[in-house]
Amino acid sequence: MGERTLAIIKPDAVKKRVIGDIIQRYEAAGLNPVAARMVHMSKAVAEEFYAVHRDRPFFGSLIAHMCSGPTVILVLEGNDAVKVNRELMGATDPLKAEPGTIRALHGASIEANAVHGSDCHETATVEIAYFFPDMV
Ligand code: CMP
Repeated sequence: MGERTLAIIKPDAVKKRVIGDIIQRYEAAGLNPVAARMVHMSKAVAEEFYAVHRDRPFFGSLIAHMCSGPTVILVLEGNDAVKVNRELMGATDPLKAEPGTIRALHGASIEANAVHGSDCHETATVEIAYFFPDMV
């Protein structure tokens, strides 16, 4: 069992054909996928998901990027899943991410940074409910 977190493989990573590589890294780190959907987000869906960032200067381009192609959305389960996933992803800016992390390996910019992961347990619960309403 363990904790659950939400991960999104972003449109830039799907276009780079690294879905399999990223999922393999989740599994190798002990994060077991327990739900998955491929979603090409509408503007309304992306805006609601990222509502906490609504007033940030990068909001418009963040939404445009997230709607630019299909994403893969997963619920990952394991011990300390939120923290383990954040370590596996690396810093938001791929240039600042630790070598070997998903964003360092596959991210191109702070926006095209390959993956999203919930930032804490409470956020994970809300984010999972948003894309997987049947799981709560
Ligand atoms: P993510 O973890 O999906 O959460 C919000 C996203 O906004 C973040 O990853 C980045 O891809 C994107 N973003 C774009 N510009 C910035 C910025 N200056 N600071 C933080 N996040 C940014």
